[in-house]
Amino acid sequence: MPDVRIVNATKKFGKIVAVDNVSLHIRDKEYFSLLGPSGCGKTTLLRLIAGLIQPDEGEIYIGDRLVNNVPPEDRDIGFVFQTFALFPHMNAWDNVTYSPRVKGFDMEKAETIGHEVLEMVKLHERLDAFPDELSGGMMQRIAVARALAAGAKLLLLDEPLGHLDAKVRNELRYEIKKMVKDLDLTAIHVTHDQSEAMAISDRIAVMRKGKIWQVGTPEELYMKPESVFVAHFIGESNFLDGYVSSVSSKGVMIELRGELRVQVATNDIQQGERVVLAIRPETFTIERGAKRGKNSVLATVEKVTFEGTNIRYDIRLENQDLVVVVKPSLTESWFNTGENVTVSFPPEKSHVFTYPKLGLKEEIAVE
Ligand SMILES: Nc1ncnc2c1ncn2[C@@H]1O[C@H](COP(=O)(O)OP(=O)(O)OP(=O)(O)O)[C@@H](O)[C@H]1O
Ligand SMILES: [Mg+2]
Repeated sequence: MPDVRIVNATKKFGKIVAVDNVSLHIRDKEYFSLLGPSGCGKTTLLRLIAGLIQPDEGEIYIGDRLVNNVPPEDRDIGFVFQTFALFPHMNAWDNVTYSPRVKGFDMEKAETIGHEVLEMVKLHERLDAFPDELSGGMMQRIAVARALAAGAKLLLLDEPLGHLDAKVRNELRYEIKKMVKDLDLTAIHVTHDQSEAMAISDRIAVMRKGKIWQVGTPEELYMKPESVFVAHFIGESNFLDGYVSSVSSKGVMIELRGELRVQVATNDIQQGERVVLAIRPETFTIERGAKRGKNSVLATVEKVTFEGTNIRYDIRLENQDLVVVVKPSLTESWFNTGENVTVSFPPEKSHVFTYPKLGLKEEIAVE
């Protein structure tokens, strides 16, 4: 059973700690993503699992087997890379049947597998084509087919869609996920694209600077980010600086700049503490005119951007803080630049975090 367990793994390159004491359990048959900004250690972690590099410390298990000393070819994994790593001198057919052939399967079995995987990636009619005759999307399909033909139950994918244009990328991500599920595989997918990770993953590990910051389903990461960084990296958030002016059974009162007070539903935070209030752009409500009330703040629309599905408003609150509010373009009447409005804060959907020691800007930098 190919679940994967990483226990206290560390990998250094000179002074760089690429993977820093990471522990992680990827379940059997799970579509799991490693997500994080460039240089955070995703590829290094995947290469540790693949056995292409060795950890300085820690253990890696595939199924029940400790694989630290097992070479990549004996780990029973399929690998798909970002760059199109097909054998350039072989046509599609020879690429996908390479593994069954070198494994010594008889011709009939190798051919059956070849036909199956090419059907699966919908490229059967191109089996004579050489890599340089195929588009980027087709080459990645062949790369996936080749990895599947090897018969491995664990598939490692390092930015497999990174070099493809947006439409092809969108299509292929769902196809890969479907194949993984249809074949009962376990997949570990590296990406720095949060929308890709959100769309296809059962669970995601958000990484930063060699560490794992949070592991959860896409919904958990979006609805319950445990840090300012995750609130910033998954989806989009407005961050407002404030402090806790009072704590009661109903929640806490946060005083923002300019003596604006908003009440949010949280506990776990002390009176007087400096905090960051994180609010998703789609959770504010906006109304025309000035309507003072609980959790409502007077504001002015500074900029209106039509984005297709959504309208994006840059809104200056009366305390001069700037927030972004996003509303569906089809269902709302639009607000205009310069218009006076009232913005209401959603008490249940705001997140309160202790103010980061390094400062907010540093905390959310994706370096
Ligand atoms: N072979 C190597 N030698 C020296 N440093 C390395 C090596 N491989 C990775 N690093 C460093 O380790 C850190 C993590 O790199 P890694 O490639 O794992 O990041 P990543 O998350 O995959 O980034 P990207 O999204 O850009 O692919 C980086 O600082 C990188 O420069
Ligand atoms: Mg990488």
